[in-house]
Amino acid sequence: MRDERILQTLKELEELETQPDLEEDLWRISFDTGMLFNLILRHSGAKRILEVGTSSGYSTLFLAEAARANGGKVYTCEMSPFKIKLAREMFDKAGLSDSIELIEGNALEKIEDLEGPWDFVFLDGMKDEYAFYLASLWSKVRPGGLVVADNMISHKGVIGIEAYKFTVDLLDDASSVTVPIGSGDHVTCKLD
Ligand SMILES: C[S@@+](CC[C@H](N)C(=O)[O-])C[C@H]1O[C@@H](n2cnc3c(N)ncnc32)[C@H](O)[C@@H]1O
Repeated sequence: MRDERILQTLKELEELETQPDLEEDLWRISFDTGMLFNLILRHSGAKRILEVGTSSGYSTLFLAEAARANGGKVYTCEMSPFKIKLAREMFDKAGLSDSIELIEGNALEKIEDLEGPWDFVFLDGMKDEYAFYLASLWSKVRPGGLVVADNMISHKGVIGIEAYKFTVDLLDDASSVTVPIGSGDHVTCKLD
C-alpha cells in the first residue's frame, strides 16, 4: 500500500491516540495486521467487505484501499458518536470516503439487515458479542470467503473469545487457524 494520503492519515491516527485528553480510547489493530489484510484482499479480489468495530477508522483504511483497487466497498459498523465523527473525517482525509459505508448504530441490530454475500468479514467489536455477530452473518459469507476475528491471543481465556472459537469449531463448513500477528487473529474460511 503506497498511497501517500492514506499513509499520512494512518500516521495521524497513530499520533492522535497518544494524546492524554482524548474523549474515548482508540483501540486499533497493528500496522502489520492492516497490511496483511490489505494484501489478502488485493490477492483475492474481495469486493464486499464487512467490518464490525470501526473505532477511528484505522483498520478500515487498509480494507478500503483494497476495496477501491478491486472496485468494491467496505461496510463498517460503529456505535460511538465520537468515533463515528472522527472516522468520517479520516476517511475524507485519506480520500477513501467513496469506498466506505459507515453504518451507525449497534452491529447486533444492523448487520442482520445487510445483504450478502461477504467476501471478507473483520470482527473487532465487543468481544462478548463475536459469537452473535458470526451467527447473524455466517449464512451470508460466500464459499471461499473469510471471517477474521481479532484479539484471539490478547484476550485468550475471556469468555466471549472462547465462546467464539467454540462456535466456529461447531461449524461443519469452516476451516480455521489463529495467526500470531498483532493481537492474534482467528481466520476462518467458509468451505464449499
Ligand atoms: C477494538 S475497537 C475497533 C478498532 C478498529 N477496528 C481498528 O483496528 O482501528 C472496537 C470498536 O467497536 C465498537 N463496538 C463495540 N461493540 C459494538 C457494537 N455492538 N456495534 C457497533 N460498534 C461496536 C466500539 O465502540 C469500538 O470503537
